[in-house]
Amino acid sequence: KSNDTSGGNPRDFVAKMKAGNKRLAIFYGSQTGTAEEYAIRLAKEAKAKFGLTSLVCDPEEYDFETLDTVPEDCAVIFVMATYGEGEPTDNAVQLMQNLQDEDFEFSKGGRDLSGLKYVVFGLGNKTYEHYNVIAKYADEALAKMGATRMGTRGEGDDDKSMEEDYLEWKDGMWEAFANTMGVEEEKVYLGELSARALTRTKGIHDAKNPYAAPLVVARELFQDPKDRNCVHVELNIEGSGITYQHGDHVGVWPSNAELEVDRLLLALGLYDKKDKVINIDSLDPALAKVPFPVPTTYATVLRHYIDISALAGRQMLGTFAKFAPNPEAEAAIKELNTNKDVFHEIVANGCLKPGEVLQVAAGNDIRAIPTPENTTAWPIPFDMIVSSIPRLQPRYYSISSSPKLHPSAIHVTCVVLKFQSVTNERVPERLVYGVGSNFLLNLKYAANGEEAPLISSTGVANAVVPTYAIEGPRGAYRQDNIYKAPIHVRRSTFRLPTNPKSPVIMIGPGTGVAPFRGFVQERVALARRSIEKNGPDALADWGRITLFYGCRKSTEDFLYKDEWPQYGSELQGKFVMHTAFSREPPYKPDGSKIYVQDLIWQERENVADSILNGKGYVYICGDAKNMSRAVEEVLAKILGEAKGGSAEVEGVAEVKMLKERSRLLLDVWS
Ligand code: 2AM
Repeated sequence: KSNDTSGGNPRDFVAKMKAGNKRLAIFYGSQTGTAEEYAIRLAKEAKAKFGLTSLVCDPEEYDFETLDTVPEDCAVIFVMATYGEGEPTDNAVQLMQNLQDEDFEFSKGGRDLSGLKYVVFGLGNKTYEHYNVIAKYADEALAKMGATRMGTRGEGDDDKSMEEDYLEWKDGMWEAFANTMGVEEEKVYLGELSARALTRTKGIHDAKNPYAAPLVVARELFQDPKDRNCVHVELNIEGSGITYQHGDHVGVWPSNAELEVDRLLLALGLYDKKDKVINIDSLDPALAKVPFPVPTTYATVLRHYIDISALAGRQMLGTFAKFAPNPEAEAAIKELNTNKDVFHEIVANGCLKPGEVLQVAAGNDIRAIPTPENTTAWPIPFDMIVSSIPRLQPRYYSISSSPKLHPSAIHVTCVVLKFQSVTNERVPERLVYGVGSNFLLNLKYAANGEEAPLISSTGVANAVVPTYAIEGPRGAYRQDNIYKAPIHVRRSTFRLPTNPKSPVIMIGPGTGVAPFRGFVQERVALARRSIEKNGPDALADWGRITLFYGCRKSTEDFLYKDEWPQYGSELQGKFVMHTAFSREPPYKPDGSKIYVQDLIWQERENVADSILNGKGYVYICGDAKNMSRAVEEVLAKILGEAKGGSAEVEGVAEVKMLKERSRLLLDVWS
């Protein structure tokens, strides 16, 4: 039965090529199917590389009179096996006769194939005397008739090295093919962040176009980093055109951990196709563009482009339910989708990512390293995954350096997020990892040649430290042993007053201290300049800058412990630091912890004086929910009392006024 739509002779392959818009015909002289398999592979590669579709043909089904009418922008590949004493396979007998028969005439009359572009790959066996002679005969006959060979003839040895022979031959052939046919290899995107970054067109690096900044320093800041890590990284921005100010934020573009990439690939049944080249079209480009460059691969999309590490949204579960692998899984995911309380309990409290929700609904063990055996595949169309899971976004960190001290580097201070999720009957005890901070931690391991600890020592059963594929074009990649992280700078208004006479109060426990390291450095740079210009007394009328810092123990997580005294001496006592170590003595009389707000209260006279009389500035950075609120409360209390009123009325009014006049600034997160 013929599917010929050309309306003409069904044995005319050229007509069929034209009708099907195929630029390549691939004939296989095959006996057992091996040559046919290679023909199909070549067709797939032509599609993946150049976006060209092929007609893969059994030569027995076609006539070759029209071989001289193959259009100029088309080509023919012959994959020819040699059998026995140098014979063609049964299905190629007629083809070989046509090629070698001097009396055979093509449709235009004569033996002229000068318009034809071709190449031959032979399959033979070296233990036979007539190794690959059919491919050789075909090649010689075509060349004799004036056809243009693309590259060289390939010859595979079935006895030993067929696959290697093929692999060795095909790249050069495709290169010659591209040149002869005037086609360009289609770029497959493997993590590039924007087409602009890719084409290297100059332009500012912004939220749409990050800069791959070399990691020049990466070190641990905690004194005793057993299970908690705080990473200090210095990113080189020389020559990038990127500038920054103290108090700005840096957006770091993470990748997802390989564990999560594999988990979701397996849950979607795509694991064995993970490196397949795919194209994704937007159903309605006016509404939504495909948010990443294509063609790409399944693994790339999950690794670099969409946020598979975030909590699964309730809505996407409704979409997934339609593709449940069995009724039980369907019922389970539908319940999570429709019942808010169950969703909250299982998914939100359990911190389940999309891949984990699929596993939990299908009854898989989310703590096991995911494999095809322990992970149920859900046949969810990939475009639905792409449209239901949000794009992977940069993670923002307060820059912890000053450009006046470090003009060519951005310093980041990043506490590594890992915590134990709530456990319940469907979610076992396990650690949950933050994507951005663990990405930086892994970059640090890689940059320093350190072995990432595979198992965390928390005692939590599944505490596998996630690893990241940090080699690749994403930007977080390695070049000559330099690792890079894709970044851009986001401006902020969290800035010191320009006049150094204004007193400054900074409150930043934990990594909330990050921007204040930049603030103090800024003042140090200014002090150096002033002293150089105006002599050693230049700082005499400067206002005091006071830092309230808190951490657990002076010996454990005291960030930049060694640096502060140096800054203090350079600033000639104009920099003062108060530290609250919450988990070491002294404690309050009732045994409770001393926090930064308690120190502020102790210092209330100075604080009130700086703010009310000195027209000072107050900055709070860190945890928004508890710390920042408690600090604002204590400030209201101090200011209310200093004004002879109450915290609730005069104090609250004063805090409000400070905020309105931008003399109380917050850089807080939850
Ligand atoms: P804790 O963990 O011992 O309770 C940095 O995280 C520091 O902030 C730690 O010393 C931490 O103490 C402390 N901290 C925790 N909760 C706080 C709060 N509500 N206000 C101020 N500091 C707090």
